[in-house]
Amino acid sequence: MQIISTVNELRAWSRAHRKQGKTIGLVPTMGALHAGHGSLIRAARERCDVAAVSVFVNPTQFGPNEDFARYPRTFHADCSLAESLGAQVVFAPAVDEIYPEGAETFIEVEGLSDRLDGRSRPGHFRGVATVVAKLFVAAEPDLAFFGQKDAAQVAVLRRMTADLRLGTEIVVCPIVREADGLALSSRNVYLNTLQRSQALVLSQSLHTVEALVAGGERGAEALLAAARSVFATQPAVRVDYIALLDWATLQPVDRAQPGTLFAVAAWVGETRLIDNTILA
Ligand code: PAF
Repeated sequence: MQIISTVNELRAWSRAHRKQGKTIGLVPTMGALHAGHGSLIRAARERCDVAAVSVFVNPTQFGPNEDFARYPRTFHADCSLAESLGAQVVFAPAVDEIYPEGAETFIEVEGLSDRLDGRSRPGHFRGVATVVAKLFVAAEPDLAFFGQKDAAQVAVLRRMTADLRLGTEIVVCPIVREADGLALSSRNVYLNTLQRSQALVLSQSLHTVEALVAGGERGAEALLAAARSVFATQPAVRVDYIALLDWATLQPVDRAQPGTLFAVAAWVGETRLIDNTILA
């Protein structure tokens, strides 16, 4: 496996494979890879001839009081995992390779970027859209792989790729969970033992809503109230949002239907966690 640190080298790698008729998969990550990322790399290897994994903790998607400085960085382990899963390249640029001195170009997906996580993290999706656009311009992937856990991010990136006609297909892979239901996240390492058990309330709220929907309930009011009462069992957990939404527009809906997104975000101590389900 090759480790590449410049945009020009990554582009040359991608173009050389395209010339040979090969399809290129990209798995954008911020490193601290876990089994969720592993499933993305596996999917990229299954669906594309060659796969690159980018490892870049993107400063522009963190707010001034967020965890950029302490975000977990595990580069050697990340490379071992990527290699063991068959990635051909890890792209690990320095910050000034992605944001050259004087850089002033940003991508803003209006509207969507102010909903859900964008509402509590102003500027977050501007940073995400910008870095992903830059990665797409560098790698020119046929397919790019993202986790469903970041459902609002997926909505923003689908809109961006459609609006800019980037020609990269966004592939969304299912959420990977611990045995007890906790969605895998690089931020789970911040949780102490007590918080780790409190954090289960997120996935429990999803199960409650899924069970109600399976039993025939469709009304947003009833579903949201049920989820709120699950969160009430863990008063130490501070809810950011509990929402029933159209996945494409991230606008609230009154009734659940197949494909409706039910999403939650909450603070467990200092750690903000998110989770969601696409209702059947
Ligand atoms: O989902 C992530 O890890 C990041 O938001 C992404 C897509 C790699 C952009 O930095």
